[in-house]
Amino acid sequence: MFLLNRLILILLLLVHVNSWGVDKRTWLKLKDDGNHDPANPALSVLQNPGDVFKGTPADYPGTGNQIDWVRALASGAIKPRSQLYDTTKIEVLDLDIIMEETGEMAMVRFPHKAHTEWLDCSNCHDKLFKKKAGGNPVNMFAILAGEYCGRCHGAVSFPLTDCRRCHSESRKTFKGNYGAQPVPGKIYPPVKQQKVVK
Ligand code: HEC
Ligand code: HEC
Ligand code: HEC
Repeated sequence: MFLLNRLILILLLLVHVNSWGVDKRTWLKLKDDGNHDPANPALSVLQNPGDVFKGTPADYPGTGNQIDWVRALASGAIKPRSQLYDTTKIEVLDLDIIMEETGEMAMVRFPHKAHTEWLDCSNCHDKLFKKKAGGNPVNMFAILAGEYCGRCHGAVSFPLTDCRRCHSESRKTFKGNYGAQPVPGKIYPPVKQQKVVK
């Protein structure tokens, strides 16, 4: 009887673990996505998104292209090549910028690390941003018009409707200085929903 109970328990656990592990996300096949010519024979050599992206860390439902790219990279789920030439110097910077001119919204935490793992300094400095905390007239109107953060967010990186991802630092709980914050090795939990934070 004891053994039987054990067996049932183990079975129950297995069933559970299995249903937790199921990745319910779906992606259109290339031939159906409206961007690729289904008649092109070369289509068969390309990978379909569903085959590649299953198992990557999921973004919260209904946002972007369903993949949490920062954590996909951090967890090793994807391993993109960082450079074409051996001579290219790769620099990852562990420095956050706390931007506090956000009115009623939570403050903005800009993480250099998450950015410089994907981008080169020259993608932002000094054309988009002067290298000085608080040294740029960034505001939400300009961002929504495609300037500053809006050059990439809403275009190639997560959408501007994900307010909480940028406005992530609550004024009420934040301790420390505004502006530049060295944060060696700090990894942030993913923002999972759009709850109101002030
Ligand atoms: C890609 C990052 C990002 C996203 C997404 C984002 N914001 Fe902002 N927001 C900023 C930055 C940066 C500032 C300027 C902060 C500063 O200068 O101190 C800002 C400023 C603001 C301000 C202050 C007033 C102003 O015009 O600058 C408000 C209000 C605001 N955002 C609301 C929102 C709302 C609402 C959303 C979602 C619909 C949103 N933001 C999404 C980055 C973002
Ligand atoms: C995605 C855009 C982006 C990339 C890429 C980027 N930065 Fe920045 N950087 C910023 C922003 C935004 C600020 C803050 C500007 C502000 O507050 O007005 C900043 C500020 C700085 C500052 C000023 C800090 C202070 O104490 O005032 C330095 C230094 C800096 N960046 C260096 C770098 C270096 C080095 C790299 C490459 C390893 C880099 N950045 C890559 C966007 C970027
Ligand atoms: C040159 C392009 C570029 C610019 C400019 C840029 N970002 Fe990003 N950002 C990215 C990319 C690429 C990622 C990683 C992919 C993703 O998460 O969509 C990212 C990710 C992030 C993350 C996610 C970090 C995490 O832990 O998930 C935050 C927060 C963020 N950006 C805020 C900002 C803010 C605030 C600004 C403006 C001050 C800004 N970004 C400007 C390209 C950019």
